[in-house]
Amino acid sequence: MAEREYLKREFYCGKINEKFIGKRITVYGWIQVKRELGSITFIDLRDREGILQVVFNDKFQDKELLKQMGREYILSVTGKVIRRSSPNPELFSGNIELVAEEAKILSESELPPFFPENRTKVSEELRFKYRYLDLRNQKLQKNFKIRSEINLKARNYLAANGFIDIETPVLTKATPEGARDYLVPSRIYKTKMFALPQSPQIFKQLLMISGFDRYYQITKCFRDEDLRADRQPEFTQIDIEMSFAEPEELLTIINGLIKDIFPMEKYPGNGTFKILSYQESMNRYGTDAPDLRIPYHIQDFSHTASILKSKLLNEIMDNNNTIKGLAVPESQSYSRNTLDTINQFIKDLGGHGVIWMKNSEQGFKSSLKIDGHDMEKFFAANTIDKNHIIFLIGGAAESIHFLLGKLREYLGKEYQDKNRLEFCWITDFPLFFYNQEEKRLDSNHHPFTSPRTEDLEKLDSDPLQVRSIAYDLVLNGVEIAGGSQRIKDVHLQKKIFKLLNLSDKEITEKFGFFLNALKFGAPPHLGIALGFDRIIMLLTGEESIREVIAFPKTTSSLCLLTGSPSSVSEKQLLELGLKSLDQGFKRSKK
Ligand code: AMO
Repeated sequence: MAEREYLKREFYCGKINEKFIGKRITVYGWIQVKRELGSITFIDLRDREGILQVVFNDKFQDKELLKQMGREYILSVTGKVIRRSSPNPELFSGNIELVAEEAKILSESELPPFFPENRTKVSEELRFKYRYLDLRNQKLQKNFKIRSEINLKARNYLAANGFIDIETPVLTKATPEGARDYLVPSRIYKTKMFALPQSPQIFKQLLMISGFDRYYQITKCFRDEDLRADRQPEFTQIDIEMSFAEPEELLTIINGLIKDIFPMEKYPGNGTFKILSYQESMNRYGTDAPDLRIPYHIQDFSHTASILKSKLLNEIMDNNNTIKGLAVPESQSYSRNTLDTINQFIKDLGGHGVIWMKNSEQGFKSSLKIDGHDMEKFFAANTIDKNHIIFLIGGAAESIHFLLGKLREYLGKEYQDKNRLEFCWITDFPLFFYNQEEKRLDSNHHPFTSPRTEDLEKLDSDPLQVRSIAYDLVLNGVEIAGGSQRIKDVHLQKKIFKLLNLSDKEITEKFGFFLNALKFGAPPHLGIALGFDRIIMLLTGEESIREVIAFPKTTSSLCLLTGSPSSVSEKQLLELGLKSLDQGFKRSKK
């Protein structure tokens, strides 16, 4: 073996502190900052653990080498650790510095398009193009350490609870989760495609039929859908399935997992898991992913609205509609301008606007012509403190829940403290929703979700009223997990496919293999999948899952680093039986 050209690294820069004073050590790192003060040069050397100040003083002979050292160059430095005369309390190594005795440039760097510590000053496009530089940022490095630690914690917890890690295929057949599939053309069977899994749903159910009893996998899923801050086309799930258990048992296991993952001691007063039915959640919060940190909720004012003697409100009630609203504290913080913005916010969402009422030094005021005394009576009848502003919207329940839900989130931003965790389980979702575009019933979760037994008779007569045995876990307004009890009866499963408007032929082609499996002793089983990226996003206090995925796609589904998706050679296309056209591809059978 060739002899080492430089001394072996002994310690990480970010791990050196006062305990090392007087010791001679060797560290490696990237030059983050170089400052020359007369004959002394200070270098902030950065590695994955943090920053160490290195001092090159008069005694350092190789001035030429020192001159060459530029930002983002990699150095090996050997020297003595001494106490620093001007400590930097922000650094772990802030009380010491390394006096360089020997140094070597291990790698040079061109001037980078941005410096990692200044990443927030440049566009996301630039950062994604040079993601490897972006990832040198200390905060991002920390995010990925946390991600790795949580991955290990989850594995240990699940293993300790008897779950077995089993891998399922990536080249497979479509598993429906409500998004479009990513397809992979087969070279050998020219007219056929594999689909990348939207989730391992069918395979994990098959594993239950195989008798594995408790399965888990931390795995990639692929969904071709519109992206947003908490959605990526490929993302990671902690996927779980178990047999012979009731939903309560699974929820208890997941609550335990969450308590293991989140350092609850850092979040005082948290760690309780509320349970709300879908209907309760919609009525109170206007959404199935409520942010419970916001202290107010939607209230029904239909029964007291007549006190206000308003023509408009009376008309709304006469038309069999409801009047609901929010009572929001600190009415004085709502200026006329703010109220106009709020009104516009509702209009932009498709509403007619919002009615407001508040008390002021000149008495009660409203956007409608309402007598002040009547407003006072209205506040009293609803036991609402006068310091509150009331926002009202009238109309059909579904649309006002939506509008008030959005308004609640909009006004509640000040309560969105990242150090507070508010978990809640949402249960009893409707099994179906009506897909307007395709004019058919669609599954709210996926078609393998079990209906509630007491609602089975409504499957034919009133399918939209059928509730499912499904549960989502929501943290601070973000859905972090979703799961359900599964259908184990082949006839019921077939019926659900039919209600989803699949023909017998489609059912056989798409799911024949699965229906067959259900005939050979399928245990009662249920499961869940946790959005791993979303959990890490919330744990690290980030606003987007892109900050916790090493090589994410942009919101328009591009990988700017590699330039994918990209064109491929005619030869490759030909092998796949594909022909490129201006508008896309054509597939032949040859
Ligand atoms: P579901 O579709 O609810 O359930 O997904 C589970 C969790 O995965 C996360 N998630 C996403 N995260 C990032 N980007 C995306 N595009 C994305 N889509 C979903 C969410 C979500 O709660 N097979 C079922 C689970 C089951 O029934 O066991 C499933 O995949 O946090």
